[in-house]
Amino acid sequence: MNAALGRAAELDREDPLSVFRERFHLPLGPAGEEARYFCGNSLGLQPRSVPDLLNRELDDWARLAVDAHFHGTTPWYSYHEVFRETMAALVGAEPGEVVIMNSLTANLHLMLTSFYRPRGQRRKILIENAAFPSDTYAVKSHLRLHGLDLHEDLVVAAPRTGETCLRTADLEELLAERGSEIALVLLPGVQYYTGELFDMARITAAAREQGCAVGFDLAHAAGNVALQLHEWGVDFAVWCTYKYLNAGPGSVAGCFVHNRHEARNDLPRLAGWWGNDPASRFKMHLIPDFVPARGADGWQLSNPPILAMAPLRASLDLFREAGGMEPLRRKSILLTGFFEEQVNALNRPDIKILTPVDPSRRGAQLSIRIRDNSEEVFRSLLEQGFVVDYRRPDVIRAAPVPLYNRFRDVLDLCNCLRDCVGNDR
Ligand SMILES: Cc1ncc(COP(=O)(O)O)c(C=O)c1O
Repeated sequence: MNAALGRAAELDREDPLSVFRERFHLPLGPAGEEARYFCGNSLGLQPRSVPDLLNRELDDWARLAVDAHFHGTTPWYSYHEVFRETMAALVGAEPGEVVIMNSLTANLHLMLTSFYRPRGQRRKILIENAAFPSDTYAVKSHLRLHGLDLHEDLVVAAPRTGETCLRTADLEELLAERGSEIALVLLPGVQYYTGELFDMARITAAAREQGCAVGFDLAHAAGNVALQLHEWGVDFAVWCTYKYLNAGPGSVAGCFVHNRHEARNDLPRLAGWWGNDPASRFKMHLIPDFVPARGADGWQLSNPPILAMAPLRASLDLFREAGGMEPLRRKSILLTGFFEEQVNALNRPDIKILTPVDPSRRGAQLSIRIRDNSEEVFRSLLEQGFVVDYRRPDVIRAAPVPLYNRFRDVLDLCNCLRDCVGNDR
């Protein structure tokens, strides 16, 4: 056995979370074997307990119909509250600061409506140059709604020339210089393309010192890295649950609103009956005026999609069983560190990791730039049962997820990558 194989075996043997792998369905590769899955940053795997939890709701619907709202196994009326504690713990929030609802982009629109309040000279939004397109579209649509200029009123932070990741100090400098013009800062927790983990504590402090509101898109951060949204003082955050949170395609999203805003009835918002104070929700037309529920709940619009929420429950049960983010992050740092070490051991000048080297500046994902024939390399990896993804023009992203990936998977991926890039340098 070579040294790397021995180390991977030892690390897997010593991994206290290795038992969780069998709690998920692993897809099959082209030869019918279990695929080596590295796309948990795109779509998390299905927990095996999903069908049971889903069937329970289908049974309640069949048996009880409307009565399941109050007399179901888990009454539907308050079903979303099942997630409050675990989800709040995962993102470092107080339970009343978190709600599960809608989709990520829909929640972002709700948050922009409330927290983007351009006034006088302070009217710009700060984003990053490689923001996920949905975020850019959302932000621009709000500039348009306020009759502002899509170019002048958008401040775009970019990495230094020749670099791929944004430096926190540069963001701090930008905020110190232009903070008085900026109404809102919207940045990712983990950048989807490079895998860079933003220093949300420092960015939030710098933004708030300048009087800017600050929100984060945590699509690639929730369930991946440790978060302390409450302590950092973030105004709002939004995330999806189909990536590291394994709740299934297009599943229901998360939203955080800091509790310093919980009783602010002055904030404009797009309202719906489910965001109304439960005490008067069913008084219906007898009380026509909207009275927001306290906390993040007050931003809900509609009654919750129970069948979309049941899979999230299955996944969050596993997070709780695994001990929460701390042990998961501990393994994740080892796993991604091993991945980086093995890519570097290939010693190829034509392969470059774009993700930061510092473990505190990245999550589970490595983004690997392949200089030559990158698309062919990607295709050959797929043909050999490695599920990774490709971002044009030349980047392969792979995320070893601590709940279900093994050190051995990472080593096999790197060996296959070496074979796929061939001998030309
Ligand atoms: C960083 C980021 N933001 C936003 C979105 C959009 O999410 P949704 O389609 O759930 O609104 C995604 C989707 O992958 C994403 O990766």
